[in-house]
Amino acid sequence: MVHDVAAFADLPEGTGVAFVVEGEPVLLVRVGDRVFATAGLCSHEDQSLEGGMLVGPTEWQCPHHGGALDLATGRPTRMPVCAPVETFPVRVDGGRVLVALE
Ligand code: FES
Repeated sequence: MVHDVAAFADLPEGTGVAFVVEGEPVLLVRVGDRVFATAGLCSHEDQSLEGGMLVGPTEWQCPHHGGALDLATGRPTRMPVCAPVETFPVRVDGGRVLVALE
């Protein structure tokens, strides 16, 4: 199901913003004209990924223990993150960020 989660203009460049969609924590990260959506909790210790930072073109560093993951694939890129996080398809339409949750 597709959800209208946010206004594109409200997402600061390179900053992750946490939302709750259908009761699920979701992280949106704007990188240039693109928006990535992942699960909102890190796979290491289930802590929020909000407050982390971009450390590569699509690499997001968790704010808690220095682990990192790829926003496009959800795959871990740096320990102690060693399990993938879920990613969700995103479309920007009419200035709105639409996220598809299954
Ligand atoms: S909770 Fe993310 S690296 Fe530990």
